[in-house]
Amino acid sequence: MFYPSGIYGWCLNWDEILTKPNGYVTCIFTNLRINPLSNTQESLIILNRRNFIKNGSLCTSTLLLSGALWSNFANTKNDKVYRIGIIGFGDRGSGLFNVLKDFPGKFVVNAICDPLDFRLDNAKKMADTNKVKLYRDHRKLLENKNVDAVIISTPLNTHYEIAKNSLEAGKHVYLEKAMTFTVDQAMSLTRIAEKHPNQTLQIGHQYRYSPLYYKVKKMIQDGYLGKVVQIDARWDRNWNWRRPVPDPSLERKINWRMYKEYSGGLPAELLSHQMDYIHWAFDALPTTVYGTGGIDFYKDSRETYDNVQLNIRYEQEDMIGNFGATCANKNDGYSFRIKGSKGMVSLLTDDGIFYPETETRKELEEVDGVSGATKIAWTENKNGISLVDSKLKDGSFYAFEDFYKAISENSLPDSNVYTGGNTAICVALANDSIYNGGMRKWKPEYNLSPQY
Ligand SMILES: NC(=O)c1ccc[n+]([C@@H]2O[C@H](COP(=O)([O-])OP(=O)(O)OC[C@H]3O[C@@H](n4cnc5c(N)ncnc54)[C@H](O)[C@@H]3O)[C@@H](O)[C@H]2O)c1
Repeated sequence: MFYPSGIYGWCLNWDEILTKPNGYVTCIFTNLRINPLSNTQESLIILNRRNFIKNGSLCTSTLLLSGALWSNFANTKNDKVYRIGIIGFGDRGSGLFNVLKDFPGKFVVNAICDPLDFRLDNAKKMADTNKVKLYRDHRKLLENKNVDAVIISTPLNTHYEIAKNSLEAGKHVYLEKAMTFTVDQAMSLTRIAEKHPNQTLQIGHQYRYSPLYYKVKKMIQDGYLGKVVQIDARWDRNWNWRRPVPDPSLERKINWRMYKEYSGGLPAELLSHQMDYIHWAFDALPTTVYGTGGIDFYKDSRETYDNVQLNIRYEQEDMIGNFGATCANKNDGYSFRIKGSKGMVSLLTDDGIFYPETETRKELEEVDGVSGATKIAWTENKNGISLVDSKLKDGSFYAFEDFYKAISENSLPDSNVYTGGNTAICVALANDSIYNGGMRKWKPEYNLSPQY
């Protein structure tokens, strides 16, 4: 992988390298990986930086993100309203029902399925039952020819079977993460999806859909961070992660996350999002996965661990990922730090700051000092540069934009069966290591990719 060796300037359009006949460079960065600039050209860029600052061509605001700039609808020409069935109407299913209200004229929910009475009661309160059919068995919902697509938001152990049934019933599918529970299921679902090339299967890793995360992916690819060597990802809380149970017979159905039979615990429920992002942003897959953990705080007969730490090696990228989660301290909460030789990006789900290293900072201050009108958005304490200047929507909104586009155009969504499958495999290896000890090696057959 090629990493450019200097900060040359900041520009609005990342997708152009334009060298004027007189040698002035007005816009740089993209294509550097596939068309590396020679040292001579790099010097030229640096020498001419003041010129293009003066010419107004250098725009430091490229580091700032405006959420409005990004929309998957921009090029989607389709008036069709897709009719959605939601399978699993718990926290996530009912939450996504609300998100879909932001898509009038694109999606309409006309079916909901859940085997639990109190969940269906909730569906009756939230939905107009003259327009939305209710089911207890997902196979019955799948027989409904008026349903074009389904959202599957059920416990992890059910994902594979329901997704398989849904594809075989001819539905488009938005399947919540983690895609599958086991390695074999991930590989099998991939092949099943390929037998249904005209149907979309999108996986619910929605955080990466935020324009902020796209931007950071681009920063990584274009070398803004230099050589990234470590990633520190956490998702901590100070809470037992349990739900109240009205009747003890419902304990395992409501608190399925506590039991190994149904749940991949903290790695599947939380850390899978950050793992997935690293695979995508770096176009990388793990080489080895090591995990440890325990029921270290909540000795309450749960089976999944309340304290886990994963160490993942990405050998080809010379990179280490540390992924941790605990239920006994919430100070860090969600934290995601990507550390490179030129700077570190620190991400929340909807905010991000770039912390330049000393040399990078000097370059940036010089640019900032000269450019005037296009000020870099330094944080109040001047330690870092804000990457977001306007409020972003929840990642699920952007994910559904891609779902609509993928169905309309029969395109592969960004979070698809291959990327979701790779992440599900990574989670399964992590849990195997956590529960059974030892390091797990990534096998070549885990590299899921289209087999045309
Ligand atoms: N992408 C995200 O950020 C995000 C956030 C939360 C949850 N999730 C995922 O969504 C899924 C559900 O999580 P949740 O918090 O909503 O759980 P939940 O327990 O609140 O809801 C799951 C619902 O599925 C129902 N269900 C179980 N088996 C079913 C079946 N065969 N058919 C139909 N319904 C069935 C249950 O009765 C329950 O009501 C999990 O995979 C979870 O990881 C994703």
